[in-house]
Amino acid sequence: MRIKELAILLIALFMMACAGAQTIPEPESPGARLFKQRCTQCHGLPGPKRHTAEQWGGLLVMMEGFMRERDIEFPAQEKKLIQEYLFRNAR
Ligand code: HEC
Repeated sequence: MRIKELAILLIALFMMACAGAQTIPEPESPGARLFKQRCTQCHGLPGPKRHTAEQWGGLLVMMEGFMRERDIEFPAQEKKLIQEYLFRNAR
């Protein structure tokens, strides 16, 4: 009866709240996870669709430079996964 309706309403609201948060493509992939971890240390997460693959290539080199300046590790393997992820989902 009522309780069930309330539960459904709450679930619907919860799902809407989640959808409102930053949604990026294939969020469970290793590339997306690293992207979220590594690329939010200095600023908010930029959506993959914000740039073309070509632009991402240049930006990653730039970001690598910023990380080096700040002694933040950015292993080549992680960069590769993030780059592949961004290229797949670029504009
Ligand atoms: C060490 C700090 C740092 C890390 C870590 C970092 N960035 Fe940045 N990022 C910056 C700074 C500083 C700017 C601003 C540069 C400017 O506008 O001149 C910037 C700007 C950007 C921009 C351009 C502005 C925008 O919002 O469109 C993009 C895109 C971006 N970063 C992507 C990334 C990605 C992708 C990663 C992960 C690989 C990353 N950043 C990790 C420091 C960082």
